[in-house]
Amino acid sequence: MKKLFITGASGFLGWHLAQLAQTAGWQVYGSYQSRPIELAGVSSFPLDLTDAVSVKLVMQELKPDAVVHLAALSSPNACEAEPERSYQINVVASSELAGRCAEAGIPCLFTSSEQVFDGLHPPYREAVPVCPINRYGEHKAMAEVEMRHRCPNLTVCRMPLLFGAAPADSFIQPWLRAMRAGKAVDLFIDEIRNPISGTDAAQGILLTLDLLMRGQAPDLLHLGGTERLSRYAIGQTLVAALEISEAKLNPRRQSEVKMAAPRPPDVSLDSSLALSLGFRPSPLRPALEAIRSQL
Ligand SMILES: NC(=O)c1ccc[n+]([C@@H]2O[C@H](COP(=O)([O-])OP(=O)(O)OC[C@H]3O[C@@H](n4cnc5c(N)ncnc54)[C@H](OP(=O)(O)O)[C@@H]3O)[C@@H](O)[C@H]2O)c1
Repeated sequence: MKKLFITGASGFLGWHLAQLAQTAGWQVYGSYQSRPIELAGVSSFPLDLTDAVSVKLVMQELKPDAVVHLAALSSPNACEAEPERSYQINVVASSELAGRCAEAGIPCLFTSSEQVFDGLHPPYREAVPVCPINRYGEHKAMAEVEMRHRCPNLTVCRMPLLFGAAPADSFIQPWLRAMRAGKAVDLFIDEIRNPISGTDAAQGILLTLDLLMRGQAPDLLHLGGTERLSRYAIGQTLVAALEISEAKLNPRRQSEVKMAAPRPPDVSLDSSLALSLGFRPSPLRPALEAIRSQL
């Protein structure tokens, strides 16, 4: 069996990917930083990716056949509040890891974000130059460039907003907790995303990884969903799919709420290339209904 090293296996996407990768025939090794994980069949271990010496040792001992780099400071507000911490993990550590992959002669898949765009001219194809408006997007864009410089055998998958059920929350869990407690939830009508489930995201990554292992993956791939929805519309779909009769949703505009990080209005990704390669993300409602018992 080939060995796959997944960084950030304790995160929302890592939890989905680590399990699905095993079913695709990989022997999975997953690192975490602060939240130990136990997943059947996954060898997990702590690793601070900003510790370059430890990363080098892990790569030398593990000898993986491929790396999927998910670990990140993934909250835009946290990146805005702690830019140096964001730079160290999102840019420096990513670049160092790419260097280790190149040394080992193995491919690397990196998950970037839709937030490398300003949200003013959607939908975004891969060829559109990046234009981030917050620190998170800026650091993801820098990582894309620096990682490619260090490791030419790299595919960058730009991910949209992800939802699902996992030990690590996605954006819908805080909404669900508030809705079920009968508290009003403020949701933007002018912030548009094309969300996909954690399962579909993991499937898209595995599809790309398979191409990467055969030397057939594009350098850059958008893995967005097929629907463009406001956060308010996502909330309405959640209420309908899960039949939350006590939910109260307040339509809001971005300009009415002060946030630490500027928020791009519509970062919908054009994912025609991924669709042509076999990526098949589910629309929101059936995807929510499929995991209803876990939400
Ligand atoms: N979720 C989304 O909607 C979304 C959208 C677009 C792009 N992405 C990208 O997709 C990737 C996965 O996102 P996610 O939602 O799964 O993120 P997440 O739930 O926030 O998980 C982040 C992971 O990174 C690890 N980590 C953080 N700092 C670390 C460090 N210094 N050393 C080692 N590990 C560290 C965390 O470990 P511990 O938890 O153990 O501390 C955790 O496993 C990220 O690159 C993110 O930017 C996500």
